[in-house]
Order: sequence, then structure tokens, then C-alpha cells
Amino acid sequence: MTVDDTLHITGGAPLYGTVPVRGSKNAVPKLMVAALLTEQPVTIRNVSFVRDIGIVADLVEALGSTTTSDPAGGVVSITARDVHLAGEGELAVFHERSRIPVLTCAPLLHRTGKAEIWRPGGCSIGERPVGFHLDVLRAFGAKDERTDTGYVLTAPAGLRGAIIDLPFPSVGATEQFLLGAVVAAGDSVLNNAAVEPEIMDLIGMLQRMGALITVKPNRSIQVTGVHTLRGVDYTAVPDRLEAASWAGLALATDGRITVSGVRQGDLSTYLNVYRRAGGDFEFSTDGGEVTFWRERPMPRPLVIETDVHPGFMTDWQPPLITALTQADGVTVLHETVYEDRLGYTEALRALGAQIQVFTECLGSTPCRFGSRNHRHSAVIVGPAKLQGTDLHVPDLRAGFSYVLAALSAQGTSTISGASLLDRGYENFRAKLLAVGAKLH
Ligand code: EPU
Repeated sequence: MTVDDTLHITGGAPLYGTVPVRGSKNAVPKLMVAALLTEQPVTIRNVSFVRDIGIVADLVEALGSTTTSDPAGGVVSITARDVHLAGEGELAVFHERSRIPVLTCAPLLHRTGKAEIWRPGGCSIGERPVGFHLDVLRAFGAKDERTDTGYVLTAPAGLRGAIIDLPFPSVGATEQFLLGAVVAAGDSVLNNAAVEPEIMDLIGMLQRMGALITVKPNRSIQVTGVHTLRGVDYTAVPDRLEAASWAGLALATDGRITVSGVRQGDLSTYLNVYRRAGGDFEFSTDGGEVTFWRERPMPRPLVIETDVHPGFMTDWQPPLITALTQADGVTVLHETVYEDRLGYTEALRALGAQIQVFTECLGSTPCRFGSRNHRHSAVIVGPAKLQGTDLHVPDLRAGFSYVLAALSAQGTSTISGASLLDRGYENFRAKLLAVGAKLH
């Protein structure tokens, strides 16, 4: 473990300042993968140079693209003229580091007739299977063979349009569908699709590349395949998860934090909940900047259920729940997207939070996990006096919550594994220092 991997944080003081956010960590990598669908140059702007961007740049290069990056300007350019499969073992390394390589299947089947899936990595939040992705690819006519380490897929006759019903509106499976359907022969329909802003962003870029995509009001996406796609110069959607993370920090520490580079529409569900939790906010006239603060002595307890868009997104949950350990009363949480995303509450308990986790659905929507013994609901009793302690970061969003909790706690906390935060937060340490956090 490097020195850089450990943060020593002294909390207990309100934080004030401004942090810029750039393109969404959960949108830009998909835009980079979409560049594999055309031989022409693709330029993506407003890129936040989090660690995952470097991994995906290496990935598309390993698949035959040339890439150039301008981290200061936030620009990545990709030209995928001679796409080929990655070398033996090379893809395995990418799959261990990220979920994104799974999404290269549809473009690779289109460009080379072959693709591979290795046991996918990314954050450790539950099992994160790939069954929906395989269902989509099989419907497009791909054949798959199970190997010791994953799957080998082939589509010697190319991909053909299909009608597909998703059992759950999975973000990744919807992206896999889009990346395949836009160049498949004929028409395709995806029912029960995810419609997150990051997916709309992918649709926006594909449309500018020449794709024909219609999103229906009932979560159905219709695509007419086209023969070729062209290059594009595209500006990515801002990171609504990062914006909400800094908002949580303002609420938890009773500070005042301005986040620049945002888009209000993508945050509207969060903003309503934030206000009900006793926070408030104000946008700049052009809407590109928002300031968050607590408008009462203590945050207000809530009943929260995570859901697919336009519901309250799962990635917003850990920082808000951490802030609500300071609320005046009982908060009830029902996590309906991931079966195992409450592990971070143990660390909060170690800091002094009063949280109990349940296998029952503590919400009005019965979810997929209720009868399967997954600890996916929680009751949080506030306000808790948090006291600094030693913590280890298990996944990206939990990691931010530990930092948030440490900054709300009295005394000093030592957080190991903190470099995981570089996956999703650009210049993380510099931004914390900019809002006055005491850390080294
Ligand atoms: N699922 C399956 N089978 C599949 C695919 C998904 O059962 O084949 C299940 C998952 O296990 C999970 C649920 O469906 O319970 C949702 O998964 P989804 O496919 O929607 O998520 P994802 O595409 O893997 C993206 C983001 C996540 C974010 C989710 C939900 C990226 C790289 N990741 O994941 O972001 O939580 O959508 O919005 O875009 C993060 O930023 O920290 C993060 C984890």
C-alpha cells in the first residue's frame, strides 16, 4: 500500500468552497466504447480524467484504436480504424479492473465477428453478473461458449435486429443493446430499458454519429440499424453522482459548497430529497453552478428508496445516508438496485453511527432481494456523535462516504485504500483541500 493510498482526516468543522465537476464517470467510458463502432475520429469533451478513463483508453488501444488525451482540456480523441481482439490474457486484466470491457462485446462482434467476456471487475458491490448482457447479445444472433474464465462470443454472420425484454432496467444491458442495435441488420426493440441520463447521453452521441434511435415513454427503445456510423465531436454530460457527493458533504458538515459544471435536470430527484432532508440549494442564473447548504440546525430524517431513473439513484445513497446519521430522528432506507450495498454502514457504526441492517424490504416497493436474504434495508437513528477511527475503503461510493463521515466526526480518522476514490473523483485530494478539509 502506498502512502498516497492512506488519508488522515481530522473532522468536526464545516466545509466551505467551490469544486468543479466534469463529464460523468458513468457516461464517458461508454462514449469511448461507442467510438469502436466507426472508423472515423471521435472526440469527446468535458472528460473528467478519473482513473477509469485511463483504463478505458488503454482498453480501446488494446483493441486497435489510436487515442490522444488532453487531461487539462478534458478531451479524449479515439480513432478505431483497425479494430481487433486484445492479445491473450490482456483483456482479462482489463476485466479485472473495470466493468466497461463487457460493453466492448457488441462493437467487437460488429467489427471482428468475435468477442470475449472475462469475470468482470469494478467495485465490489454484490455479484454484478452479466446474464442480461448475454441475453441481449444472443438475441442479436451471437453464439457463446462458456470457458473456464468467462465466455467467447462469435457472430460470423453479423448482428441482426431483435425484440428483447429486460427482466430489470439494467444500465449496462441497455448500453449493450444500443451498441449492438445501431449497426445490426434491421429493427430492434428493447423493452423495460434503463433511461438514465448517462444512457440518454450515449443515445445523443450515437444519434450524431448517424444512428436512428427512438425512446418511447414506456421504457421501450426502438432502433433501426444503419450500415455505417460516422465520427463525431461530442461534449459529455456532467457527473451527477459527483455533484451529489459534494452536496452530501455540505449537509453533513453544516458547510456551504458550490459545485460548478452541473446540469439541474439530471439532479432533480436528488434535489427534492435533499430539500426534504433539511438541505437547500441555489443555482446560478445560467444553471451551471449550484450551492448547497443545511438550512436548519440538524438534517431531517427521511424514508428513502433507491430505484432506477427517474427514481433516487443507488449511487446517491451512501453519501446521503452518511449525512443523515446527523439527522434529528429515524431514517429508513430500502436499496432496490444492488443486493449488497450496505456494507459501508458497518464502518459508520465503527465511527459511532446507530444503524441496523435488515433483509426485509423496508419500503413500499417489494424488490428482487426481499425473499432472498440480502441485507438491503436499513434503519438509521440520529443524531449520532461520530468519533474518528481507522477505516478501509471497499468500493468507490462507500469510500466517499467514509471521507464524509470522517469529516463530520470529531478527531482524526485514518482511511486506507483511499486511492480507490481516484476511480470516480478527479483531483479528489485537491478538491477536499479546496473546501477546507483538514487532511494529509
Ligand atoms: N444485473 C444483473 N445481470 C446483468 C446486469 C446487471 O442481474 O447482466 C443486476 C446487477 O447485479 C444490479 C442491477 O442489475 O443488481 C443493476 O445493474 P446495472 O446493469 O444497471 O448497473 P451497471 O451498468 O453494472 C452502472 C454504473 C453503476 C450504477 C448502476 C446503476 C457504470 C460503470 N456503472 O452499473 O455505477 O450504480 O449503473 O445506476 O456505469 C458507481 O458509479 O459507483 C457505480 C457502481
